[in-house]
Formats: sequence, structure tokens, C-alpha cells
Amino acid sequence: MSQYATTTGNLSARIALHSYGTNPQSWYAWLGERLPLVGDVLEVGAGTGELWRRIGHPPRLTLTDFSPAMCARLREVPGAQVQRCDATRLPFRDGAVDAVIANHMLYHLDDPDSALREFARVLRPGGRLAVAVNGRDHMAELDALGPAIGRPDLAVRFHDRNDVTAEATPARIAAHFTDVTAERYPDELVVPAVEPILAYVVSMIGPLTAAEESAARAAIQARIEAEGAFRVRKHTVLISATRGPR
Ligand SMILES: C[S@@+](CC[C@H](N)C(=O)[O-])C[C@H]1O[C@@H](n2cnc3c(N)ncnc32)[C@H](O)[C@@H]1O
Repeated sequence: MSQYATTTGNLSARIALHSYGTNPQSWYAWLGERLPLVGDVLEVGAGTGELWRRIGHPPRLTLTDFSPAMCARLREVPGAQVQRCDATRLPFRDGAVDAVIANHMLYHLDDPDSALREFARVLRPGGRLAVAVNGRDHMAELDALGPAIGRPDLAVRFHDRNDVTAEATPARIAAHFTDVTAERYPDELVVPAVEPILAYVVSMIGPLTAAEESAARAAIQARIEAEGAFRVRKHTVLISATRGPR
């Protein structure tokens, strides 16, 4: 993902939009209550480490990401070990960890199934996996802006190329793990202003021309005037699984 290699800004703009969620419990708080935070915990594709800025972290936590810019931010998380690496080639021995977390990262990978094999390799038997991904209809209202502003390439759904989705991923995980369950995080975005939507769009497709920006502003504003806010449906699931015996 070239957009993550040298900057954390795109990811931060996207995280900011989720503050307009209607669920009073934030995604990170909801997730934190469900994560297997016992023993040696490894997060792959940890990004800016936002999760650990919002919830307390376990004593033995290793954070990894393949982006140097993300790893620089991760080194600011007190007490965590940070290692730069690709999720499909983890520099840990077989059975080294008790829990692997892959939060909103699996759909970025060219070969997600080889990452799942790698997660199973580094987990001890009985160790736990937590994977967060989105449904096929996640934030579809943002993609729908593309044609309205002359940018049909607007796609907030990274998973279109590999179908790492809420619908398809449990079966892919079941090829390597047992006890696979999925739980949906209930939320919808209700955004009363143009700017946060515009910032998100720019984080996905880069700067807009003046004509595109004015079309985007008009389309977003029209929706706000008609409905009181720009509503965006969310569809995010946490998939949990257990590493079976070797
Ligand atoms: C959407 S961000 C999620 C960050 C974090 N997990 C969160 O939810 O706040 C996806 C992250 O996956 C990382 N990533 C993408 N491909 C990767 C790969 N092959 N190996 C490791 N990390 C990768 C990106 O650099 C980025 O930080």
C-alpha cells in the first residue's frame, strides 16, 4: 500500500471520520473489550497504534507494520516492542505468541491467505486470532459520490480486489483455525458537515481539482440539506478463532 509507506496522514483522516459514529462506544473501545490480551500479544499492520492510545495495553505487546512511517509512530507507544516487517513473513519462531491481532489490515494484502498461514505458524496451539474486516456494503455512500464528482475511481472499499470481507473471510480463516466466530460492531456515521467527508475522499484518491472539489461539496451539502446529515452505513466485524493443535 504505497499510501501508507511514507505518511500516516491518510490513515489519520480516515480514523477521524469515525468520530461521527452513532455508537457511544468507539470501535477501539468495543474491540478492546473483545481482544485476547493475555500473554505475548502480536499486532500485525498496527498502523499508528491508535488502538493502544485508546485502551491500556498488555505487558508483553509487539507491534509490527511494513511501513517505516507507521513504525516511527508505533515507537511512541510506551512499553511496546516494535518491529518493521511484512505480515506474510513474520520474524518470529513457530508458536511464539499467544494472540495475533490483524485490525483492518488483511484486505490490503496481495496474498491474505499466506498471511493467515503465517499467523497460524507464529501462534501456539490454543492461541487466539482476532481479525477485523468490513462488509461488502461498508461505507457504500462514499463510493457513490465518485460518479457525482466525475471520479468513478473513488473506492473506499480496498477489498474489491481480494474479497477479504465480512462475508467471505470467516471461511478463509477456517482453513487454518478452529472455533471461528464473527461479531458485528453496530454503528452508522451521521456527519453534519462537508469537510470531514471531503477529507476522507481526498485521503482515498488524492487532491481533487477545483471542479471536482466544488462538485463534491455540492453533492455532500445537498444530502445534508435533504436529510439533516450525510449518513454513511458501516459494516465491520470482528472475527475470532483459535489455533488448533499442531
Ligand atoms: C487501515 S491501516 C490499519 C492500522 C491499524 N491496525 C488500525 O486499525 O488502526 C492498515 C495498516 O496495514 C499496514 N500494512 C499494509 N500491508 C501490510 C503488509 N503486507 N504487512 C504489514 N503491514 C501492512 C499499513 O501500513 C497500515 O498501517
